[in-house]
Amino acid sequence: SPCIPVLPSGNSASRWRFDGFHYHVAAGCRRPRPEVAGGEEDRNPVIADFDGTLTRYWIDGRRGQTSHGLLQQGNAEYDAKRQALYEYYHPLEISPTIPIEEKTKLMEEWWEKTHALLIEGGVTYDAIKKSVSEATIAFRDGVVELFEFLEELDVPVLVFSAGLADIIEEVFRQKLHRSFKNVKVVSNRMVFDEKGCLVAFKGKTIHVLNKNEHALDMAAPIHDKFRYPNGYNPDSVLMKQRTNVLLLGDHVGDLGMSDGLSYENRIAVGFLNNNTEMSFKSYLDAFDIVYLNDASMRGVVELVSQLC
Ligand code: TMP
Repeated sequence: SPCIPVLPSGNSASRWRFDGFHYHVAAGCRRPRPEVAGGEEDRNPVIADFDGTLTRYWIDGRRGQTSHGLLQQGNAEYDAKRQALYEYYHPLEISPTIPIEEKTKLMEEWWEKTHALLIEGGVTYDAIKKSVSEATIAFRDGVVELFEFLEELDVPVLVFSAGLADIIEEVFRQKLHRSFKNVKVVSNRMVFDEKGCLVAFKGKTIHVLNKNEHALDMAAPIHDKFRYPNGYNPDSVLMKQRTNVLLLGDHVGDLGMSDGLSYENRIAVGFLNNNTEMSFKSYLDAFDIVYLNDASMRGVVELVSQLC
């Protein structure tokens, strides 16, 4: 089987805390859904990265495209400029030897330049739809099962990506032909003018190494009777206080996706897609479970079904 789950040795007992997760998630699942807005606070979330985590790294012997990578602006010069940036920065992104502060600056640079090229070279919503329909992108086997299972249990799923929200949502529409009521995409969101042309990006840029900062921003309280007329903050994505979190990522920086939460137990699942030999040890130290070889999501489905 291509799935090789690896549990860390040594301190796994204290970090794994399987029983705690089991008890609380089971209790959460059976609890009736509160009817008031903001009732989500009782439920434990799944937080998942998109590119290379929900999607496959290889598709029929070709590298699967990312939400950024699949976009054809309809302007060959700008597509080539963005590709040149990818060829320069992607090896730096996955290098295990560049210190984190240095890498963070490089990633900021990459996202800033890429977003500027997208605005300058022009992108329309129609170009996004066409790009997705022609893209080499596919969800890992088992992702639909996972989402259906979590939807049934009313478990909130946050897809937290440094990619492009508008493209990720189009990938859901075209590749899965459906949406899930429990899934919310938090990613770089485009602003279009009345002609459907990209003019800006909303809010602060999310890149692969600042998800932690963004997570803290999103954790603003859901109940705020002073700022909101009905006492409910519609923009709050996650409550600060959660008992358990299941986190799925393919990058050590993805661990920062749960930084806005104070949780009792977190199970972090890492998909190690490249530089396997050099990165293996750091992934084992960082994640509770590590999958290699572009594994399917079935191990996670099995884990979640045991928990609930
Ligand atoms: P993720 O947070 O969903 O993993 O998305 C970020 C990925 O997007 C990251 O692995 C790098 C990739 N990327 C491109 O492929 N092209 C680009 O132009 C940029 C800025 C990022």
